Amino acid sequence: MKILAGSTNQAFARNLANRLQIPMISREIVTFADGETRVRIGDSVQDEQVIFVQSLAGLVNDYLIETLLLIDALKDHGVKEVIGVFPYLAYARQNKAHRPGEGVSAQTVAKLLEQVGVSKLITYDIHALNALSYFSIPTINTSVLPVLMQKLIVHVGDEQRNSLVVVAPDQDGTKRAKDAADKLGLPHAFVEKERDLETVDTLKEIHGQKVVGEVAGKIAILADDIISTGNTLVQAGRHLKETGVEKVYAAVTHGLFSKGFDNLVKQKDIEKIYISDSVYHPNLPPQIEVVSTIDTAASILQQNVG
Ligand code: R5P
Repeated sequence: MKILAGSTNQAFARNLANRLQIPMISREIVTFADGETRVRIGDSVQDEQVIFVQSLAGLVNDYLIETLLLIDALKDHGVKEVIGVFPYLAYARQNKAHRPGEGVSAQTVAKLLEQVGVSKLITYDIHALNALSYFSIPTINTSVLPVLMQKLIVHVGDEQRNSLVVVAPDQDGTKRAKDAADKLGLPHAFVEKERDLETVDTLKEIHGQKVVGEVAGKIAILADDIISTGNTLVQAGRHLKETGVEKVYAAVTHGLFSKGFDNLVKQKDIEKIYISDSVYHPNLPPQIEVVSTIDTAASILQQNVG
């Protein structure tokens, strides 16, 4: 078994290779002046099982093409099987047509990855489970929120455990937050949020948010799958403080930071934000801490890949 890393999260791939004690495959990835990508596999992969690691974040469309080119090159060079480890899998938020005529892009991505030759897919905290229903290959979706929350509990101190409450920043994330809370034996609540499906703006900022569940006087852990612009967290953090929460922390699996960190760094309501290593960021402000999930990925692979 060998590991091939795409461009986006080479640190994750290297850490996984070290943890599993398997070699990395050398490869070249070049972008031509016209924007085309050229790839080359540098080692023999004949009859090998290859774990391909890529997080589809940042220049997501470029990295999607790079992914397809690398996997196709592996197939051309006689690979036995490609196991796709996509700690962050893009397009899962486009998992259904919200309005007539809209494309179901999660389905398109599933078709592409499957057609090119991924035979098993592993990911973390997929935005919507039905995004995986478009695959006919086996898929494994694991929540790493409990791993992030364990780290947070160490930070606040075990004696504060009885004051903790896990809060989903919108009603759609309630199940994800509840599952993580249940795993750690913590209570849960959620903030109501609505999005305008045309502008994707949060409507509740205009109409006022509401917390469902007991939070006053507690230490809240906002639990979510994605930080994109950061607006959801900022608004929920502000609202929780206004509702009488003593302290607010956040545990979010994927730090996309689509518009940088500005609004998260400027806000004062959330003390600290724990994110996973699913998306690589070389420089983060001190309020944002990355938690390694390599043990989780390694154990999924050890249990599911023979
Ligand atoms: C939305 O339903 C997701 O679970 C996240 O809450 C959302 O993607 C976060 O986006 P932003 O950081 O732009 O508010």
